[in-house]
Amino acid sequence: MITVIKNGTVVTADLSWKADVLIDKGRIVEIGDSLKGDEQLDATGCYVMPGGIDPHTHLEMPFMGTYSSDDFESGTRAALSGGTTMVVDFALPSPGQGLLDALQMWDNKSTRANCDYSFHMAVTWWGEQVFNEMKTVIEDHGITTFKHFMAYKGALMVNDDEMYASFKRLGELGGIAMVHAENGDVVAEMCAKLLAEGNTGPEAHAYSRPPQVEGEAANRAIMIADMTGVPLYIVHVSCEEAHEAIRRARAQGKRVWGEPLIQHLTLDESEYFNKDWDHAARRVMSPPFRNKQHQDSLWAGLMSGSLSVVATDHCAFTTDQKRFGIGDFTKIPNGTGGLEDRMPMLWTHGVETGRLTPEEFVAVTSTNIAKILNCYPRKGAIRVGSDADIVVWDPAKTKTITAATQQSAIDYNVFEGHTVKGLPRFTLTRGHVAVHDGEIRTQEGHGQFVKRAPGTPTNKALSKWKEITNPRPVERTGIPATGV
Ligand code: URP
Ligand code: ZN
Ligand code: ZN
Ligand code: ZN
Repeated sequence: MITVIKNGTVVTADLSWKADVLIDKGRIVEIGDSLKGDEQLDATGCYVMPGGIDPHTHLEMPFMGTYSSDDFESGTRAALSGGTTMVVDFALPSPGQGLLDALQMWDNKSTRANCDYSFHMAVTWWGEQVFNEMKTVIEDHGITTFKHFMAYKGALMVNDDEMYASFKRLGELGGIAMVHAENGDVVAEMCAKLLAEGNTGPEAHAYSRPPQVEGEAANRAIMIADMTGVPLYIVHVSCEEAHEAIRRARAQGKRVWGEPLIQHLTLDESEYFNKDWDHAARRVMSPPFRNKQHQDSLWAGLMSGSLSVVATDHCAFTTDQKRFGIGDFTKIPNGTGGLEDRMPMLWTHGVETGRLTPEEFVAVTSTNIAKILNCYPRKGAIRVGSDADIVVWDPAKTKTITAATQQSAIDYNVFEGHTVKGLPRFTLTRGHVAVHDGEIRTQEGHGQFVKRAPGTPTNKALSKWKEITNPRPVERTGIPATGV
């Protein structure tokens, strides 16, 4: 069946124009005027944009003694409902577990996905097995991005020497290093001190990881990436200190990208001081929400291009799971949801306020990350030959976000009560209309794994530059005689 999206305005990262879009066998086959198909989707008054790509999710993730509650089925259903058509999740080996073993576990979970997905790999320990398996993961499995946790001491955290070794290996294999930038040693000390002083509530979570802790780690990761010659992607950038490090690195010509989350852009630290324990604990994530000055910095980064991608870090725990931490904030499972709300919240607080143009919105929700992850223009584009991962966006449609009507499996929503303007009229995943005017028509198992090749143009340019500028011995003449 041939589908046509009629009468809309196509919006890409660099251009907007009125055109119909024709789809056959899951791909875009024609873009132009007066196109005809068997099935017609009316996009009058709407923008026809590349579907969102959320490069940071944790679906059914084992963490802090439990599992995040959205799995690949509910998580990708939530994604599609909000206009996101691809997610990138993290395969997470437990310390000592092989990378390929972990990957097998994530392959098993993801068979239920409603939309396409890819994986990042996490490096949670270092050894010969990890060194060897990195090559297989990259070259045979098409996973080129590797996350390093600089926090979660005693669990997922890696030290500087391990990061150095892993970054170096990644640089050689044409991969990209990612970091969760927080100084885990200092966080662990702060947590112990706060608990000893009787600070046991969720607000202490914010006190335990102030912006300096994130800024220091971001600077350190940038330095190690520079020393080892690997491009670096810093996840969940929440504050000016980390943003400043990224801004400076980019201004110096370093290959560094920063990813703020929609939560940090729109919610602030006052949430942790709410008198209701559940309200505050539901918002516990790392890094924590910050104050308005930090939010302004993140928005400015998106506007000026020093920050590249908006993600969610969707890692949803129920209220019951959050209550594991009553009496000890360090036991509250870290993570918040946002998959369904990222696009509407960013449109409302970004495009509707004039901070972002519609084209910039497409760039930071889809195209930039497709390029960074090396799946552009298959993803992140409205072009002939691209996958028909499309959102038909109605800028006049409004709703008030509430857990009562969300797709996510959890019992609350951190954006509860926020009114958004700008929502999907249709969401298409490889041509299948998964959201049809408010009606969810997802197909469990429709999602396919997206393999990505190493050695992006950025990798190649950085390797060339490092080769030219690497230290080399000075060839001297007239060597002084040695000995007596
Ligand atoms: O609090 C968070 N961010 N939970 C998910 C795991 C991570 O650090 O990304
Ligand atoms: Zn993280
Ligand atoms: Zn995360
Ligand atoms: Zn709002």
